[in-house]
Amino acid sequence: MKLDIAVLSGDGIGPEVTAQAIKSLEAIAHSFDHVFTFKDALVGAIAIEKKGNPLPDETLELCSSSDAILFGAIGDPKYDNNPSASVRPEQGLLRLRKELGLYANIRPVKAYETLLDKSPLKREIIEHTDISIFRELTGGIYFGKKYLNEEGTIASDLCEYSKEEIERITHLAFKAAQKRRKKLTLVDKANVLESSRLWRKVVKQIAQEYMDVSLDFLFVDNAAMQMILNPRQFDVILTENMFGDIISDEASVIGGSIGLLASASIGDTCCMFEPIHGSYPQATRKGIANPIAAILSAAMLLEHFDLIGEANAIRDAVEKALELNLTTPDLNHNNPLSTEKVGDFIYDYILNPEDSNINFENIHVGQSTII
Ligand code: IPM
Ligand code: MG
Repeated sequence: MKLDIAVLSGDGIGPEVTAQAIKSLEAIAHSFDHVFTFKDALVGAIAIEKKGNPLPDETLELCSSSDAILFGAIGDPKYDNNPSASVRPEQGLLRLRKELGLYANIRPVKAYETLLDKSPLKREIIEHTDISIFRELTGGIYFGKKYLNEEGTIASDLCEYSKEEIERITHLAFKAAQKRRKKLTLVDKANVLESSRLWRKVVKQIAQEYMDVSLDFLFVDNAAMQMILNPRQFDVILTENMFGDIISDEASVIGGSIGLLASASIGDTCCMFEPIHGSYPQATRKGIANPIAAILSAAMLLEHFDLIGEANAIRDAVEKALELNLTTPDLNHNNPLSTEKVGDFIYDYILNPEDSNINFENIHVGQSTII
């Protein structure tokens, strides 16, 4: 298969982890005889610095004309600490999602057997957890009308959803549940919010078309508690934009590190793949950022194009790295590998899954077989 991939590595650790994701895709292209081309474009704080715009026109054009987008991270403390900045890196990401119609954000959460003791949660609680979060990504409070009065003393953000916006992601979530354990949980706040009541109504109607999937409902405050009390109860979680943002960061604790959580953002014509961890500015260029979330996002890219064997080859390599404890300091305090070395191992393992231990030794003494 031939795929043109736009690379928006962005800010902070974005470029370092995205480089490792590209490497794993190059290994796949080599092993499975595909042609992947990569073209870079600016987004976020770096784009503001260079072009005065967090999403320059040429970036949007490249994204629209590519088959897929690999996204790194955006954000810079310079803007976080300045609430009155009128241009912000996040605007680049939000506009990208909106303009490309990336309405469904899929965030898988899994407790890896080899990492069970690395999570702050107890092994017996998280063991066998396997959740797929479907977060609506182009509506709700993120994109509703914003208001600040002239005195700067009253502000509001409108949370608005239309039936159509709810329907399209709900179908995707039900279809995913059908291929999994056939359970869908809608997370909302229908006891308080009108928009949540609309979600419930629409989701209940659509459930009639998916009778093999069981549907239940949880208020978001209860869901936040259930996520760490009994995460195994969840299969597919469907939720609106902001609840999904919060719940998915919380869920990342289950895996032992937010550096493991990948995501796919899907629309009718475009698709984008990004780690959920953000720009982690304190770690920039220190070689300590975990590249696995970015690499697993590349696996989601392959899966999106039905390259299932290829996606699994990446996942097997990641699992091997975790099993051998070839990981960055977030998961391995005593003998960590650098971001690049973890990427090297995964690259090498994809190319030579049979002799990983030899490569492990090579990498360990800094003599990767990779040229
Ligand atoms: C995410 C991030 C973004 C969001 C920020 C960077 C705007 O937290 O992708 O989860 O809130 O959607
Ligand atoms: Mg978030």
